[in-house]
Amino acid sequence: MTAQTTPKKILPNVIVTDQLGPHPDLLSVVQRHRKHLWRKPCPEHTRDAFRILQQTLENEPRPLVLDSFCGTGMSTALLADRYPNSWVVGIDQSAHRLAKHQGRQRDNYLLLRAEAESFWACLAEAKVRLQSHWMLYPNPWPKASQLKRRVHGHGAFPLLSKLGGSLEMRTNWNIFATEFAQAAAVIGLLGTCEAYTSASPLTLFEKKYQQRGHELWRFHGEFYR
Ligand SMILES: C[S@@+](CC[C@H](N)C(=O)[O-])C[C@H]1O[C@@H](n2cnc3c(N)ncnc32)[C@H](O)[C@@H]1O
Repeated sequence: MTAQTTPKKILPNVIVTDQLGPHPDLLSVVQRHRKHLWRKPCPEHTRDAFRILQQTLENEPRPLVLDSFCGTGMSTALLADRYPNSWVVGIDQSAHRLAKHQGRQRDNYLLLRAEAESFWACLAEAKVRLQSHWMLYPNPWPKASQLKRRVHGHGAFPLLSKLGGSLEMRTNWNIFATEFAQAAAVIGLLGTCEAYTSASPLTLFEKKYQQRGHELWRFHGEFYR
């Protein structure tokens, strides 16, 4: 008997949301955040993480690749393969997720527990520039009332323009991707948004979403000088 395989169905809309399109307040929120510098006391663990990075860069200066919201750091290790001459730094607020990291074949990456927004503020203040920035499957916060919890609706989002470099964001929610691209343009990050299929997943969420037949979206852009 031969095994039967059913072709995988693509599920275009898997996010339960009360939004039918980009949030109507998106641009005014981002513009307001751009005008008012985001400030919040930096958590101790994030300051410690930033000191480790500074020490690493001082000991051996290399271009810097940042993997924000890295979860278990699968993407950080894979990006370290892709950028062998750079430091690749994965940050996540969850010690629990970071502790699940598997594999360390390369010595050009670090996994640090840090709150992303405060870490970006530390980088901006120290005038550290990025070669590239990866944000793979940030939390979607799908209710319309949660706009300001999304990465592009957060007060710290405009800080990204001070870090420079290219930026790639991936999500399984098309509205989130569209909003991200619109918000990015407000802070000088110009790029394109497209449906995406990954031949080999870069993260655990990407793997899970692909196995479940979700449609994936990718924004890729560069900061306009
Ligand atoms: C949906 S998971 C994606 C993880 C990983 N990128 C992946 O694709 O498998 C989102 C991650 O963002 C982290 N996170 C959420 N808010 C954060 C913040 N403000 N600073 C740092 N990490 C955060 C969570 O702990 C979680 O690991």
